Amino acid sequence: MMLVILVACSSFLVTLINHIFTPGSTDMGGIIFAGMVISEPEIVKEVLRNSGKAFPKANPSFYAFHGESLQNMTPAVIASVETMLEKWKGQEGNENEVFGEFRLLTSEVISRTAFGSSYLEGEKIFDMLNKLSIIVGRNIFSTGIPFINKFWKSADFLESEKLAKEMQECVMKVVKKREGKVLSGEAESFGNDFPGLHVKAYRDSNEEKKLSWEELVDECKTFYFTGEETVNSLLAWIVLLLAIHGDWLERARREVIRIFGNQNPHPEGMAKLKTMTMIINETLRLYGPPNGLVREVQLGKLVLPANIDLLVPNIALHHDPNLWGDDVHLFKPERFAEGIAKATKCNAAAYIPFGLGPRSCVGMTFATTETKIALSMILQRYTITLFPAYVHSPIPVITLQPQHGIQIILASLHNNA
Ligand code: HEM
Repeated sequence: MMLVILVACSSFLVTLINHIFTPGSTDMGGIIFAGMVISEPEIVKEVLRNSGKAFPKANPSFYAFHGESLQNMTPAVIASVETMLEKWKGQEGNENEVFGEFRLLTSEVISRTAFGSSYLEGEKIFDMLNKLSIIVGRNIFSTGIPFINKFWKSADFLESEKLAKEMQECVMKVVKKREGKVLSGEAESFGNDFPGLHVKAYRDSNEEKKLSWEELVDECKTFYFTGEETVNSLLAWIVLLLAIHGDWLERARREVIRIFGNQNPHPEGMAKLKTMTMIINETLRLYGPPNGLVREVQLGKLVLPANIDLLVPNIALHHDPNLWGDDVHLFKPERFAEGIAKATKCNAAAYIPFGLGPRSCVGMTFATTETKIALSMILQRYTITLFPAYVHSPIPVITLQPQHGIQIILASLHNNA
């Protein structure tokens, strides 16, 4: 199943975000991608595994994800979930919009994990990125005339340039502060958290390892978008599905109470959450956050125009009745009762919520751990039903998002929840 398309502002969003958020390249009204959609599992495997190096991914590998910055994240997640739950107190019985709540939660988690002691500065940077993402979302389907765009700049264009500049200054401030502490003897090293590792790489004398200023700022954007938007959407869709499927909600809760009781989640218990893992897998199949994966074709025997983008629409593979059966559109976590290999009949390309091959998601463990902690802590305290006025309208904006949010009603399990 292949389809050649010419798309104006498609869902190639990671590429798009990097393009738009790079000052000087903010051409929001005229991005044209030449692309080809691929959903044939065998070709998908070949493209994503990229064994012949014919299908590179546009962005380079990300430095910070290989450092220590993502380790020991559990306390940061628990602290952030506690802050959210504190706000939920007294909200029982009312309409509660959780997509927005989870956005705040995941951005706080990523700020705390990435920036450690500089977490408030991190929040400022992420706040600006969030504003930029809203501008991108607003302009995603708009087209423009490249020549005219050179002379006339829209209000969104000007605002995005201003935000990008402010963001760079903010990153620079964090970097300078770290450098200053070491130079003045106040600290012995730059630190092993996200800013520390970046300052080290920025000052590296080895030209090959050295991170340029632009790369450093790009890393912040990537970290935020990959870490925040994805888990935010995943949590929201899980809560929706559990609000509808009360039997699975109860099964998940029983498991959480059996493993953690009313204590905070701990790393040893996380691996034992089998039912919750099934629910996460099935939600990622039905509402996996990334809309598609992009590869560039630069050469090869294929008769394709140079630099065409290949789009692998994971959502099409996840909803293919030939791969999943006639009940493909139903929420049935039991598909994953015996693991992913069994559910996909060992067809690796049938289920790719975290990608496939050498450039698959490096934040997978981070994402699933964060999701399990947040869900466990919610289920320990609340039962959830869907607010009657909820309107189901998933749309692809950076990730697959609920257009009108997800409204639920919380009922406390304990008097003091
Ligand atoms: C539910 C959560 C998540 C989902 C579904 C998800 C999905 C994906 C997918 C499909 C890719 C591959 C893209 C491609 O092949 O073009 C990817 C790459 C990536 N993800 Fe995630 N992700 C999630 C959470 C996270 C988190 C929390 C982080 C970091 C904190 C993260 C960091 C990254 C990075 C850095 C890459 C690029 C890897 C590379 O190109 O080498 N992701 N993710």
